[in-house]
Amino acid sequence: MEGRRGPDKEVEPSDLSMSEPSRISQYEAEQYDEQCRQMEWRGHEALFDMTFEYLTPGQSVLDLGIGTGLNAVLYHKAGLDVYGVDNSEEMLGVCTRKGVARGVKVCDLSQPGWPCERETFDHVTSCGLFHFIGDLDIVFAEVRRALKASGTFGFTVKGVIDGKTEYVDSEYKMRIYCHDEDVVDRLIVRHGFELMKKLHTGRTTILTGRRGLFSRCMSSKNVQIRENGIGPRRQSRQRVT
Ligand SMILES: C[S@@+](CC[C@H](N)C(=O)[O-])C[C@H]1O[C@@H](n2cnc3c(N)ncnc32)[C@H](O)[C@@H]1O
Repeated sequence: MEGRRGPDKEVEPSDLSMSEPSRISQYEAEQYDEQCRQMEWRGHEALFDMTFEYLTPGQSVLDLGIGTGLNAVLYHKAGLDVYGVDNSEEMLGVCTRKGVARGVKVCDLSQPGWPCERETFDHVTSCGLFHFIGDLDIVFAEVRRALKASGTFGFTVKGVIDGKTEYVDSEYKMRIYCHDEDVVDRLIVRHGFELMKKLHTGRTTILTGRRGLFSRCMSSKNVQIRENGIGPRRQSRQRVT
């Protein structure tokens, strides 16, 4: 979903940048799930359905923009170990209370250098995040790094509206990025993903892709999780053949 309700804030459109710290209030975070329910938002359920056949209980999934855990809870119920990143401490606070994630971390996903090591996760999922991020090249590069070989990446993306790739949502005072479908398709290929499924639903497109085996050859030999990183701790060093 696109915006969040709550008490009005005095924010000028020119001030808006999603690379700044999140402006989500505690009130907005607490209201988020109910707001989604009232809007009958089903994007997370559709995304999960499209990913389901690739999931195995006990695998790990990183949820980008995990928010209150609306998307993540489905993976948790399916028996996966969920890890999440988001730039809003308020949203992560609500998520943590639900107990769906093994670990969460505050991180601005529009910037490179995410707090996870190479080839850590079996799956990466992201619902309702991409319209807050202008440069998806950074996101795809980081996901490719974080995913294990053959790992899947499922996400939602808002399409171009009346030729506009960017606008300021007047109600929520947030800059919204609409991503051209061809550009997203090219990013998928450039970053070594194979497109598995694509679903158009309203202005949102839902895609799942699999990381190609090719990039495995390019990866480092030994992997260890950073102390302050996010993700499952490896029992032993892994050899990449
Ligand atoms: C519309 S909510 C979606 C939440 C959740 N994924 C879901 O399915 O309900 C978007 C989330 O992305 C987070 N977000 C927005 N921009 C971000 C950024 N640059 N870095 C990290 N998280 C961001 C917001 O804090 C919010 O929790």
